[in-house]
Amino acid sequence: MASEKDKIMENIISLAKRRGFIFQGSEIYGGLAGTWDYGPLGVGLKKNIRDLWWKTFVDDSDDMYGIDAAVLMNSKVWEATGHVATFTDPLVEDVKTKKRYRADHLLEENGVNPNGMSLSQMDAEIKSHKLKSPDGNMLGDVRHFNMMFQTKVGATDDSSSVVYLRPETAQGMFVNFKNVIDSFHPKLPFGLAQIGKAFRNEITPGNFIFRLRELEQMEIEYFIREEEWAGQFNSWLGRIKEFLVKIIGLSADHLSEYEHSDEERSFYSKKTVDILFDYPFGAKELYGLAYRTDYDLKKHGEYSSVPLEYFDEKEGKRFSPHVIEPAVGVDRIVLAVLCDAYREDQMGDEKRAYLKLSPKVAPIKAAIFPLLKNKPELVNKARDVYKLLKSDFHSSVMFDDNGNIGKRYRRQDEIGTPFCITIDFETLSDDTVTLRDRDSGKQERIKISELTVLLKKSL
Ligand code: GLY
Repeated sequence: MASEKDKIMENIISLAKRRGFIFQGSEIYGGLAGTWDYGPLGVGLKKNIRDLWWKTFVDDSDDMYGIDAAVLMNSKVWEATGHVATFTDPLVEDVKTKKRYRADHLLEENGVNPNGMSLSQMDAEIKSHKLKSPDGNMLGDVRHFNMMFQTKVGATDDSSSVVYLRPETAQGMFVNFKNVIDSFHPKLPFGLAQIGKAFRNEITPGNFIFRLRELEQMEIEYFIREEEWAGQFNSWLGRIKEFLVKIIGLSADHLSEYEHSDEERSFYSKKTVDILFDYPFGAKELYGLAYRTDYDLKKHGEYSSVPLEYFDEKEGKRFSPHVIEPAVGVDRIVLAVLCDAYREDQMGDEKRAYLKLSPKVAPIKAAIFPLLKNKPELVNKARDVYKLLKSDFHSSVMFDDNGNIGKRYRRQDEIGTPFCITIDFETLSDDTVTLRDRDSGKQERIKISELTVLLKKSL
């Protein structure tokens, strides 16, 4: 039987589809596992999250530089970083169906905690617990599976034409380190920031947009002197949490921290802390913070023969700076926002589901209704108010005259619109409208001339 939490997840997925936030990728062809498409409201929500991130960490900082690197990179990039050899997940195969599963996920589902286990320890645990595949068959040995997608460039079809879709945006920044140094001469500490798609051939994608094969990352490589890494690490941990709670609007009590053990840490990291969010399917990674040392710059320097160094004028020496990396998947924030905001309650005689989105992230900030759609004087006035607000709030305001007013409210509640503005007969005589609050359903009368300021204040 589905648990209460499974049901909530189902309701969120169904709302996301019904209201045009997120659709299954290639749905009319039966879908493609690990891919999801954003619809009009999902685009709005995701854009707001991206824009808030960029504003917080790049535009409002003096020491950050934006990068937008190509998804396809020279294969040597991934040889240098170690991704070709070690960007792997532990895989186990059903000997009969040949379906593949994440060994650590199978262990977790069977009540064994795989955190910190090596490949051979996972193998031994699966064997000692006599675990079977979800189809009830025997499992083979646990082995490594490289998660990078391969493709080929150009007309030749040999191994020299192999390239990978980038599995992280991070490397687009490391390979441009020298370019930014040469063109901007930044002083340490400074950072590079990038938002873009990354691709991972996940063995078991799932939990809606949590584990994707095509994802969007927002990453920063913050270059520092080695001796300051611990202080910078803590400072970034604080900045990330503040962003998630104060800017995005997630509840602080749904967040927790998890420090990776030596075995769990990625090969490039000396310390990694994940900020976890309480998704309905468990507390899982939302934001990662890693101290990557000087690993990447040194490796690229070695493999490309182009030293990636910083010149310290005071000390008169060159060195490769160390790096603190805050990294997050936009899709994971979108999912956390949807899960955090989803509510079911009773309003008047009706049950309703609504999204208690912060106005900052809500794709629609205000919806404008004429009380009655068959009264041209109300419709025209409502259109005027809509035009007025549109000039400031663009596509984040919406005109709606479909169905009765109760239905319009329910629809806007479901998509998380914080304010509904209704134009009625009183409006025609005194230029006031009713402003309805999504969460309480309370209405107040307010002058049209005050709407813009009031909406801006909530953002
Ligand atoms: N660059 C870190 C990550 O992709 O998870």
